[in-house]
Amino acid sequence: MKITLVSRSGREIIKGGIHLNDSATVADLQAEIHRRTKKYPSRQRLTLPVQPGSKEKPVVLNYKKSLKEYADGNSENLTVVFKDLGPQVSYRTLFFCEYLGPLLLYPVFYYFPVIYEYLGYKGERVIHPVQTYALYYWCFHYAKRILETFFVHRFSHATSPLSNVFRNCAYYWTFGSYIAYYVNHPLYTPVSDLQIKIGFGIGILCQVSNFYCHIILRNLRKPEGNGGYQIPRGFLFNIVTCANYTTEIYQWLGFNIATQTVAGYVFLVVATFIMSNWAIAKHRRLKKLFDGKEGRPRYPRRWIILPPFL
Ligand SMILES: NC(=O)c1ccc[n+]([C@@H]2O[C@H](COP(=O)([O-])OP(=O)(O)OC[C@H]3O[C@@H](n4cnc5c(N)ncnc54)[C@H](OP(=O)(O)O)[C@@H]3O)[C@@H](O)[C@H]2O)c1
Repeated sequence: MKITLVSRSGREIIKGGIHLNDSATVADLQAEIHRRTKKYPSRQRLTLPVQPGSKEKPVVLNYKKSLKEYADGNSENLTVVFKDLGPQVSYRTLFFCEYLGPLLLYPVFYYFPVIYEYLGYKGERVIHPVQTYALYYWCFHYAKRILETFFVHRFSHATSPLSNVFRNCAYYWTFGSYIAYYVNHPLYTPVSDLQIKIGFGIGILCQVSNFYCHIILRNLRKPEGNGGYQIPRGFLFNIVTCANYTTEIYQWLGFNIATQTVAGYVFLVVATFIMSNWAIAKHRRLKKLFDGKEGRPRYPRRWIILPPFL
């Protein structure tokens, strides 16, 4: 079987094509492309060509399938479009890098008041109990996220572009430092004891609920499975599609009620905006996948992320 590998503009990438035996799979083709171009499989996006001007999305080749399945009756020749996705990192590496920053940077502001002295605050620093609780709460949150990354989540995609590491780290590391700077500031004024208790109470409850949501999501996929989406059910998922984001937002709200800084609320607004956009896309995907047609279940009526508004 001859595979003609072309770029999206139609230029032939490997002159003379690639010759593989008739039983070859997409994974075999990927291995051959790797050998010839040095572009490893996770940075290769292989699709079938689409007619010029067509609005249809191209079919992405599944590495487990045989090439014959895509040859449309013509088992001798197949044209495949190749796109280089650029350097990749595993999802675990991406999440680990973005969460490690806030986990390490926040305590620096708590344990090294010399930062504030250097910035001109000369008075003696008194540590309020809420600042210590905030440190524990913060570190617990990011340690939980790292542990969930390695031991709970079952990601559908193996890798993400390397550029996302820089973008995501910039987001998490900057916000982490910005909030830590104000919560640990020598001029920080705590709110009332009652408000602190209510804030951390809501926060801890939501962190535990968030963990439980992640366990429910994990159980939607088999360990040996290859991604795919199911209707999440049980606990808060019976009411809201992205219950994991809802609990994430409320746990930050709890942290902010207890610590009350502008920086913390700015982060809450930005994170809510980002997660709402993702939640809308995830809700749409589930409604499209589970449309009630041809024997498929119909996606139940649910809020997207923040009942009773969205
Ligand atoms: N503070 C912030 O700014 C912020 C922002 C984002 C996330 N977070 C936190 O980080 C956590 C993880 O974020 P995330 O965006 O990776 O969460 P996510 O995509 O909603 O879900 C976590 C895991 O569950 C899988 N999953 C989701 N829906 C599924 C379904 N219907 N069927 C089968 N599997 C499903 C996902 O698979 P896929 O690999 O296919 O996606 C992913 O591996 C969040 O829950 C939240 O606590 C915080």
